Amino acid sequence: MKLSSSLGLAIIALLVIAVPHAKPDPRPLAPDAKTLAYSPRPLNSVTFTKDVAPILFNNCTSCHRTGEVAPFALESYKDTAKRAKTIASVVSKHVMPPWKAAPGPAYMDECRLTDDQIGVIQQWAAEGAREGNPADLPALPQFPIGWRNGEPDLVISMPEAYTVPAEGRDIYRNFVIPTGFTQDKWLAAVEIRPGNRRVVHHVLVHLDVSGKARELDAKDPGPGYRTGGGIGFASAGQIGGWAPGNVARRWPDGIAMPVPAGSDVVIQVHYNLNGKPETDRTQVGLYFAKGPVDKRARLFPLTGRVNIPAGDADHRVTSSMPVPSDVTLRSVMPHMHLLGREMKIFATLPNGKELPLVHVPEWDFNWQMSYVFKQPVKLPRGSKVSLEARYDNSTDNPRNPNSPPKNVRWGEQTTDEMCLAYLNFTVDSESLTQGKNVPSISDFLRQLSEKRKKTAN
Ligand code: HEC
Repeated sequence: MKLSSSLGLAIIALLVIAVPHAKPDPRPLAPDAKTLAYSPRPLNSVTFTKDVAPILFNNCTSCHRTGEVAPFALESYKDTAKRAKTIASVVSKHVMPPWKAAPGPAYMDECRLTDDQIGVIQQWAAEGAREGNPADLPALPQFPIGWRNGEPDLVISMPEAYTVPAEGRDIYRNFVIPTGFTQDKWLAAVEIRPGNRRVVHHVLVHLDVSGKARELDAKDPGPGYRTGGGIGFASAGQIGGWAPGNVARRWPDGIAMPVPAGSDVVIQVHYNLNGKPETDRTQVGLYFAKGPVDKRARLFPLTGRVNIPAGDADHRVTSSMPVPSDVTLRSVMPHMHLLGREMKIFATLPNGKELPLVHVPEWDFNWQMSYVFKQPVKLPRGSKVSLEARYDNSTDNPRNPNSPPKNVRWGEQTTDEMCLAYLNFTVDSESLTQGKNVPSISDFLRQLSEKRKKTAN
């Protein structure tokens, strides 16, 4: 078995190969906001204990409880009543719960309030946030503690705690930990346990086989090294990620992610500073594949070209790629930075039928999620996967990092931009146990672009 750094190559190859369409799409990406489908309850009948608590316990307390990511608990009437108006406002605007995808295919961990639930909260807040009968109050939900996937086979920890300063700009810190693996390994799951949820905003875990991450670490005093958002080397594979609300899951039996012998694990932590010094020691749990591995879990970034003129409030980018053989798509993850406003990822089947994959109508850089399909999506050879993205580089975008706006291109800094749809899939014809090894998609696309160049000449 030869494990190449095909993912790193894939990223580089795609920057060159992605096929942007020249024509802008005239369709508006976001449908107009609709009014709520809610039939009001009798006047003054809505209470916290009977109506509101069940909604909050199911959709909010996973984060809004002590020790979790949200800034306050929403576990009791007292916690909630004093914030009734803010709660009504954030749920109406779909800011909370922070589930950013519009309804589409069913996703794992989908967390979205129905119009009826939003209506109940609005009515409750508008009528003075009544408590109601304490006997109606449901039990607080129990949340699992410790590793969700059980004890890992190997726990990789930051070598020492990192002290996050009280103030300054957000920090992207990369911690390099050698695996010491003398053999190639297969991972069935990677679970990340943030050390300090008050400051850990999100975590990405990459592999490095080039030694570059170690070099960067050696040059930077203190644990790890700092970047402006990128990792500073060509990744040999992203094996995990954590953001509030994301749950690590095990690949189905027979599917796993390769880790080449001698790899370093690079844990990138994005820290939010919260006004006082904090320490963090984030851990990564590795779960090795138990049985024989038949298919490689593949990650492929579909990219779009970014060159966004200063002041352009509605800059559109589209890109698509052919699907070279029958594949099973398991999750998608859009990625843009601060100018991104909206992204749609969809497939077009060989018969022309469009299959929505994910639509994030109001992109929020703070909530970058991977959308895992409840039913993996089968894409036959000859399908196409496309992305449509919209950016706002005007002064009207409150997140615009440049004042006045500047031309913005692709780059690793948060103030640069990106346009990416990560596709997580397996190739149906691959069977490693039967010696059927399918080359990486990037090799396929490279061949395709060479063929195109030849015919063009
Ligand atoms: C996945 C974690 C998560 C879930 C689930 C979640 N929240 Fe939050 N919430 C946060 C975090 C983190 C913040 C603070 C940062 C921010 O505003 O994005 C926050 C902030 C808030 C705020 C303050 C907003 C402001 O502008 O001051 C309110 C109110 C709130 N949440 C209500 C809710 C309600 C109601 C629900 C459920 C319907 C919910 N949240 C579900 C993580 C979550």
